[in-house]
Amino acid sequence: MDLEKLLSDRLAPAFAAVAGGPVDPLVRRSGRADFQSDAALALARRLGRPPRDIAGAVLAHAVLDDIGVSAEVSGPGFINLTLADRALADLVAGLAGDARLGVPPTATPQTVVVDYSAPNVAKEMHVGHLRSTVIGDAAVRLLTWLGHRVVRVNHLGDWGTPFGMLIEHLIDLGEAEAAQHLSMGDLDTFYRAARVKFDEDEAFRERSRLRVVALQGGDERTRRLWRLLVTQSERYFLTVYDLLDVGLSGDDFRGESAYNHLLAGVVDDLDRLGLLRPSGGAECVFPPGFTGRDGAPLPLIVRKSDGGYGYPATDLAALRQRVGELGATRLLYVVGLPQRQHFAMVFAVAEAAGWLRPPVRAEHLGFGSILGADGRMLRSRAGESVKLVGLLEEAVARATDLARSRNPDLDAEAAAEIGRAVGIGAIKYADLSVDRTKDYVLDWERMLALDGNTAPYLQYAYARIRSVLRRAGTAAQPDAPIVLARPDAPIVFAQPAERALAVELLGFAGVVGEVERSLELHQLAGYLHRLATAFSAFYERCPVLRASDELRESRLLLAGLTARTLRQGLDLLGIRTLARM
Ligand code: ARG
Repeated sequence: MDLEKLLSDRLAPAFAAVAGGPVDPLVRRSGRADFQSDAALALARRLGRPPRDIAGAVLAHAVLDDIGVSAEVSGPGFINLTLADRALADLVAGLAGDARLGVPPTATPQTVVVDYSAPNVAKEMHVGHLRSTVIGDAAVRLLTWLGHRVVRVNHLGDWGTPFGMLIEHLIDLGEAEAAQHLSMGDLDTFYRAARVKFDEDEAFRERSRLRVVALQGGDERTRRLWRLLVTQSERYFLTVYDLLDVGLSGDDFRGESAYNHLLAGVVDDLDRLGLLRPSGGAECVFPPGFTGRDGAPLPLIVRKSDGGYGYPATDLAALRQRVGELGATRLLYVVGLPQRQHFAMVFAVAEAAGWLRPPVRAEHLGFGSILGADGRMLRSRAGESVKLVGLLEEAVARATDLARSRNPDLDAEAAAEIGRAVGIGAIKYADLSVDRTKDYVLDWERMLALDGNTAPYLQYAYARIRSVLRRAGTAAQPDAPIVLARPDAPIVFAQPAERALAVELLGFAGVVGEVERSLELHQLAGYLHRLATAFSAFYERCPVLRASDELRESRLLLAGLTARTLRQGLDLLGIRTLARM
């Protein structure tokens, strides 16, 4: 049940009647009442009428009392909306009995292809891949929970000219030794060694060039060695996904090479459509609206001057395959912002070619960088890009130490479990709780803190509620709808903090619906933080276990519902909760 939407739906016809056309009532949470609508203010200018008049006229038209809402005009022309306690209590009771916490599955399921993670073979995963993996995983979880058909695609960088030198280096090292380097995550050493030879050794360069030709020509031995590079790297990436606790599996790899057989067709079809232009020996499309710094039209190169196809052609082929073969109606690309122009141009060309048209939509979910404490791109002490595994291991180690120091009685196994959930949770939450288009600073102290907008704060709030429920002897099953000892016991609002918590609990559906559209996961994170904060205020002022019968039941229900909402919300973000912390 999305309360903001319900109020919006009730106010919209009244606004329309007053304005003579559709108006978004702009309902939002309010500090003064439960909700407020600010639309009369903007409308005043348009209609040349005082905003308070407009708000009054809207209220004269609006039907609200059947849902227990009272309204009044306030200040310069806001409409304050307040739910009667009875109505609020009924709504919360409805949530408590609903396994989906008021969030129905979508009425219009889509096939959504989520392109995320996408590391490159024989190259270390870096922090950019971390962001893509974490954001993509959360998007997959949320859309799946809402009932969409979600296809995960790990667009592995497994093709291109570097494979000539990588295969030659593999031959030099010997297969067994090379395979060992790669599966042990020694990818950077391997790649760099190949690169050094390539830069310094003319003969090696020539061998590499010939090897690319052999690879593209389908030479059997070359293919086998290439496969070896790919499978060893995939095996290593899977260990990182496992550590990161994300749902990507071996079946989700669909590398760039998988589109090879489609590339010539893409270029032929663009040619037939009259979209190809030669430029500097290459074949290009110049989508309208893209110009370089000098004002000259920008090309998307679909076939290079050496006859090879590159990254853009592959993305065009992949887009076509996702729409045509997979039946996608929504295409998401979780890739860093430096590739913004690439995707904008790929989408523009696909639109021009008619491969991308409504209702199918493509969205680049771009993201910023992770910065070090110095405010610059995160680097290791040696100045290299930070190895992802090292970062994850450090997070787990720090969280394990913190757990042990807070609770010295913890046995090693319990500390390790907490360390994993909290350390990985903290990394993910630090990423998901900021607007993804912004850069953020990796700050261990802050992200592992038990207070503030952090994973540990939310996980701790959850564990604390579980402990209260344990002591009350209820809710052995944290995910099940809540069954009270006295199901007919009403929810009581004896303190403002109870009421505030109830209103917050009702906001879950609205936030999830909004994030389904925008995929701004930080909105969900922000909501969970507000909910946990409302719970803390409630817990400070409202004794639960020591309250009289009726209040106790009511408070247990609010607490249990908060726990379930926190758990579900964190689960959508890919973050684990613990019954004890
Ligand atoms: N492998 C690329 C990189 O590491 C990302 C690929 C993103 N997906 C895509 N369809 N282009 O930068």
